[in-house]
Amino acid sequence: MTIDNQSVVFKKNTVFVLFGASGDLAKKETFPALFGLYSEGALDPSTKIFCYARSKLTVENLRENCTPYCRPSTTGNDKFKMDQFFKMVTYISGAYDVDDGYLRLKGEIEAFEKERGVTEPHRVFYLAIPPTIFLTVAGQLKKNVYATNGITRVIVEKPFGDDLETSRELQRGFKPLFREEEIFKIDHFLGKDDLKRLLAVRFANPFLNGTWNKDYIECVQVWFKEPFGAEGRGGYFDVVGIIRDVMQNHLLQILTVATMEEPVANEAEAIRDAKVALLKCMEKLGPKNVVSVGQYGRSLDGKLPSYLDDDTVLNKESKCLTFTEITMDIHNERWEGVPIVMRAGKGLDEDRVEIRMKYKKNVSGMFAGSTPNEFVIQFHPERKIYMTFNTTAPGFVDNVHQVSLDMTYSKKYINDWVPEAYERLIRDAFLGNAANYVRDDELDVSWDIFTPLLNYVEGPDAPEPEIYAYGSTGPKGILE
Ligand code: BG6
Repeated sequence: MTIDNQSVVFKKNTVFVLFGASGDLAKKETFPALFGLYSEGALDPSTKIFCYARSKLTVENLRENCTPYCRPSTTGNDKFKMDQFFKMVTYISGAYDVDDGYLRLKGEIEAFEKERGVTEPHRVFYLAIPPTIFLTVAGQLKKNVYATNGITRVIVEKPFGDDLETSRELQRGFKPLFREEEIFKIDHFLGKDDLKRLLAVRFANPFLNGTWNKDYIECVQVWFKEPFGAEGRGGYFDVVGIIRDVMQNHLLQILTVATMEEPVANEAEAIRDAKVALLKCMEKLGPKNVVSVGQYGRSLDGKLPSYLDDDTVLNKESKCLTFTEITMDIHNERWEGVPIVMRAGKGLDEDRVEIRMKYKKNVSGMFAGSTPNEFVIQFHPERKIYMTFNTTAPGFVDNVHQVSLDMTYSKKYINDWVPEAYERLIRDAFLGNAANYVRDDELDVSWDIFTPLLNYVEGPDAPEPEIYAYGSTGPKGILE
């Protein structure tokens, strides 16, 4: 297994500051990702990690909190690695809106850099905090701990805005503080191995890419099904809903990479240019695009709670959507007229995230009417790529039937370490590679597409969400 090729050079003595270190995201994603990188040899051991939050915690508390979410390393000896890793960590408790804590942080950072003889500081800040305080922390950060004579990188978690206007407002707030190349806006699906692979699958296999167009493809389907609900996250989910939670960002990213034209180069700006060009060909969504909307009720046996039963959902009359199916159109030469369907829901019957390219029927020739092919890239529950393929079985009869050409990653790459999304993204930010982060103009177009839909489903003429049973297939739609 090769984790880092020879040409990758990590800056020594990088300072990584995690704001919101006591929170859920830090515990479940950021720390496990940092530890994962460290234990696989992909985080330079000269790195210093400062954790900042309001709560009065110790490094030992942080370790206890995140340990259940850290996955075992491929080479074992995790207890020792954990001991070493946490020696790199210092915890600072401070408020977000006043100078005091930041000045202590500044003192600690400068002392570290001085001790290591750093002349050009490299500081990476990670905002694992609620969006309501993004700008407060960003302002303080710029004022007190920005690397004026070095490199600063700021990683910002989603959600970046609630719609086009609020997203632009945030962008306007960040603009005077940091240059675009200093801000790394996360959509963690962009860090998934599967999405990276989709680029190679399409553009390193011209025979395949050559058929991904209106002449061959009948329909494109993007599925997101989770067998669990919003339990425990009601405070967040109730203001966000399924469209903002996964459709406007994660699923749109999958769809964009699967349908964009080939980037002119394998580098960040070219890839993001290609995505923006595709997004600009998508029609804005509105009432006519809605196939079905829903909210999960109790499971049929009454054992699993409805969305409204959840204690963290405070509004007991909430109409928040936990399920939505929509159709979409791309108006360009490649995709004109090809229906695109996106279906996303929580509290459903299975775990499934995938994009399906459904090919047209073979209408003429010897095997007219044979079952159409399908090409599927699955993210969940298994990382796999498969294609249905017509052939005949051995014997005297020409019994054309379908088989699956299946590339399941866990079977092919048995002992390989597959980076988790956050591992890839944090490593990319350390290296200054923004290819897997969202650019401002990309954010703008994606909100532009989804804002009219959000206005409709949250407005006075909103469709009534259908209540579906927790654990069921969800409301009826085009996709079953
Ligand atoms: C998050 C959403 O961004 O993505 C969650 O807020 C969702 O609701 C999650 O469950 C899915 O991500 P993953 O990596 O678990 O597939």
